[in-house]
Amino acid sequence: MKGIILAGGYGTRLYPITKSISKNILPIYDKPTVYYTISILMLSNIRDILIISTPEDISAYKRLLGDGNKLGLNFIYMIQESPLGLADAFIIGEDFIGNDSVALILGDNIIYGETFPNILHEAATLKEGAIIFGYYVDDPKSYGVVEFDKNGKVISLEEKPSAPKSNYAVPGIYFYDNKVIEFAKSVLPSARGEIEITSVNKAYLELDQLQVKILTDILWIDTGTYDNLLEASNFIKSIQKDKLLCIGSIERIAYEKGYISKEQLLTLAESMSKSGYGKYLKSIAERS
Ligand code: TTP
Repeated sequence: MKGIILAGGYGTRLYPITKSISKNILPIYDKPTVYYTISILMLSNIRDILIISTPEDISAYKRLLGDGNKLGLNFIYMIQESPLGLADAFIIGEDFIGNDSVALILGDNIIYGETFPNILHEAATLKEGAIIFGYYVDDPKSYGVVEFDKNGKVISLEEKPSAPKSNYAVPGIYFYDNKVIEFAKSVLPSARGEIEITSVNKAYLELDQLQVKILTDILWIDTGTYDNLLEASNFIKSIQKDKLLCIGSIERIAYEKGYISKEQLLTLAESMSKSGYGKYLKSIAERS
């Protein structure tokens, strides 16, 4: 399975912060936001990752992440000229996806939970159809919303409904078989002018090939507003302190998955030796 990170957009809700910097480069406590999204793809055992961003911002991602070799990953970069919609990722990424299945994650989505890696493992074995998630929120109006019947079967999907039929929003991580490319190409722009991912999901629902897994005991934050950005930083700081964990550490995951050696991890740590994060990586290498 291939992975795509959609890290473009204008980030207008974060102006003036995002006038000159991409939203997904902004820090969530001690790491750039994009680290957390890459880590989710890594936890899904995905190593080929396409990063899509704007013509202005793509170079910042290249500077931060390079070709991925130092992490045992393969990063490819492509440009989205303007934010045409989430499903545009599959049209831009058609050649990258090839005949494979693909996971898409939005660059501003932070998802954490102890059970989440197992859920990701399973989703990444998808052979046919699509897997998306449902997450209970108090106010789902600004998301894709899933409606279930009394047996838990999905009966409808709506994008940003003014009268939501349920409280289950769809977080920004999606797993698809190869049909997604054709579905994305056949989607017409919505009233707000975007090629909506909800339209792609509806195409799978019509084929009875859409699974919606409810996420419980998991935290999902989309970091699109000042408050969410701060909430995400505070959450990561507190959980790292309380549980002595490091969330979204792509270098550590690469090491634990055997993609890089202890020496390579030490070299990465050395390149950041003055920061707490670099020291943390060093301690991981020396501990094992
Ligand atoms: P949004 O938060 O919907 O858009 P945005 O980041 O431009 O923010 P704002 O609403 O404040 O203007 O997008 C969610 C994520 O998807 C975000 O990381 C940007 C990315 N995105 C793209 O890369 N291309 C697109 O065409 C769209 C719609 C979003």
